[in-house]
Amino acid sequence: MEGYGWLSNRRRRTTDGVVKTRLLGQPVTALCGPDAARFFYAEGNVHRHGAIPGPVQDTLLGRGGVQSLDGVDHRLRKAMFMSMLSGDGVGLLERLATEAWDAAVASWATRDRVVLFDEVARLLTRAVGPWAGLRPEEVDVDPFAADLVSMVDGFAAAGRRQWQARRARARREAWLTDVIVRARTTAPAPAGSALAAIAEHTDAVGDPLDARVAAVELLNVLRPTVAVCWFVTFAAHALHRWPEHRDRLRDDDPEYAEAFGHEVRRFYPFAPFVAARASRDLEWDKHRIPAGSLVLLDIYGQNHHPRLWPDPYGFAPGRFLERRVGPYELIPQGGGDPRTGHRCPGETLTVALLRALLPMLARLDYEMPDQDVSISLRRVPARPRSGMVLANIRTPP
Ligand code: HEM
Repeated sequence: MEGYGWLSNRRRRTTDGVVKTRLLGQPVTALCGPDAARFFYAEGNVHRHGAIPGPVQDTLLGRGGVQSLDGVDHRLRKAMFMSMLSGDGVGLLERLATEAWDAAVASWATRDRVVLFDEVARLLTRAVGPWAGLRPEEVDVDPFAADLVSMVDGFAAAGRRQWQARRARARREAWLTDVIVRARTTAPAPAGSALAAIAEHTDAVGDPLDARVAAVELLNVLRPTVAVCWFVTFAAHALHRWPEHRDRLRDDDPEYAEAFGHEVRRFYPFAPFVAARASRDLEWDKHRIPAGSLVLLDIYGQNHHPRLWPDPYGFAPGRFLERRVGPYELIPQGGGDPRTGHRCPGETLTVALLRALLPMLARLDYEMPDQDVSISLRRVPARPRSGMVLANIRTPP
């Protein structure tokens, strides 16, 4: 109910920043800050099995995916993600996404107005589907984009959004289970694609993944790539609110574009926290954390921590030009080492997509008609209410 402020509100009432509270009736210890992040990601302190609530599995994440694994099983499955989300694959997807952006912009110029959030979700779906190994003719872009967005949009909601998310996941898992079965039998996946890697992956004892779990993992690539539309929409919000940054972002300066992307990921609310269970009786800063209890790392709180980010509620991309960030500081996609822990394996790709797309957004010539661009911190995940409506779009020369 309190949304992104839930843990920060409680932390302000503590003397040492450690929040002891309850989540869905269960006792919780919530931590924040780089040292806490190091503790949270240290091997052997916490595990993920049993930490993800059912409603989040049935909407956002699915069941049996990498997020719920620990130890050797996790390392092996994670290596599969790391190999497909690094190297040449990132550059290729970046190119497909910029081509899809150019094609979309040409069509926006023929319409009075567009909702940026919806448009970017679609163009990313158009790019990532074939990149991941789906046949272009089997990707029904608009409804597929809507389903991928729903899975993210409904995970923390009650009522309609939750049910839409459940239906979207059920529908897409069923379809992609068939795609996996076909990739293993009659319709081999393109070599080097995510579909091929997942269909062929074997676990610690040499068994292939159950086809439904493989579909969950394929969705673990497709869904969050499309969710980058949240950050692109937030970037449009930032350019609207702080137009003084637009000129510099227009320039062909990848370093600044990356800094702008980092500030968008730090400043705007997306993933609120990550959760795990204590693997044994732990102690953090003189607080006892009983084995099996929930431990949360407050992502939103840490990304706005005044000791870590001076003037945390100011939008200042330059802060990322002045300093290098350590692996436990900027944590919108988790902290630590993605190869060994649960940090997002798609962060390099997210950063690359933002570095490429945000200057293209800044170069676009458009007007902002009257609309409600407010962002409620009670809605998880947050987004500008209007989705950022752009009008009279003209293609850049
Ligand atoms: C994990 C955020 C993009 C794939 C995570 C985690 C967060 C996160 C908070 C959990 C970290 C933890 O549990 O410690 C985001 C955000 C994104 C994004 C905000 C921007 C839209 C991506 C992309 C991909 C991806 C583009 C893949 C193409 C994954 C996977 C995991 C993960 C597979 C599970 C890793 C594991 O459990 O070891 N992400 N992510 N994410 N992300 Fe992302």
